[in-house]
Amino acid sequence: MSKVVLITGAATGLGRATALKLAQEGYRLSLVDYNDEDGNDTAERARELGAEVIFVKADVSKEEEVRQYVAQTVEAFGAIDYFHNNAGIMIPFRLLHEYSSEEYDRLMNINVKGAFLGIKYVIPVMLEHGGGVIINTVSSNSFKPTAYNGVYAASKHALAGLTKSIGQDYQDKHIYAVGVAPNTMQTNISAQAISTYTEEVGAKIAATTAPNIPATAEEIADVVIFAMGGAKMLNGSVVNCAGGQIYT
Ligand SMILES: NC(=O)c1ccc[n+]([C@@H]2O[C@H](COP(=O)([O-])OP(=O)(O)OC[C@H]3O[C@@H](n4cnc5c(N)ncnc54)[C@H](O)[C@@H]3O)[C@@H](O)[C@H]2O)c1
Repeated sequence: MSKVVLITGAATGLGRATALKLAQEGYRLSLVDYNDEDGNDTAERARELGAEVIFVKADVSKEEEVRQYVAQTVEAFGAIDYFHNNAGIMIPFRLLHEYSSEEYDRLMNINVKGAFLGIKYVIPVMLEHGGGVIINTVSSNSFKPTAYNGVYAASKHALAGLTKSIGQDYQDKHIYAVGVAPNTMQTNISAQAISTYTEEVGAKIAATTAPNIPATAEEIADVVIFAMGGAKMLNGSVVNCAGGQIYT
């Protein structure tokens, strides 16, 4: 039987690009997103490429919905070999003291708690089946924040921490995790962030963004698939996808 890949945030951007590449390679796919219109569209396109696919509408920040998307994946395919823990959001660019606690909670609930809940419910399935691979979508902000993006940067540092901890906790259980860290990836994720964009904000962001080569979602999807294959040796590490910009 072909391997099963569960992808969150599969409606658009990197999740969709990864799903469509894996569909061409014959994987069975469980696609999750709270945007069911675009999520179903990704699923339909993957089916047209020959893949066996389910789409589950779920908000990754809600524990019961996470439990459901994991249960529905196991019901459909019997296992989860790979988990691309990818759903994430940005919020408006602000200085740290300008963020409301509601904005903080919203972002952390999706980018950190949502990723944690995915890990929490997928790992027992992987343990039961003798192992698996988790690819967390982190960010260059997991290494070095850019200005006006502090809460997002904190969330991606936290997700890098969860990635490294999986590397410590499950080495002997054949469960491996890799963080894939895009820098500037051409998707619509910043649509909300730019609602507060001004020339001044833009200048400070540009001044704090190290030179890098922008990537398409398809180029980062290739790195996700590379990390899926190399996860045993990459376990607990974060793959920097900044196109020549070195972070330490
Ligand atoms: N685009 C970039 O420059 C960039 C850089 C570094 C990291 N990232 C990360 O890449 C990942 C994918 O983002 P993208 O750039 O492809 O943007 P995107 O907005 O196209 O994709 C994010 C997907 O996550 C989904 N999503 C968001 N919140 C959700 C929730 N609560 N429940 C279920 N689904 C939810 C969205 O509907 C969307 O389909 C994110 O984790 C993001 O933080 C993006």
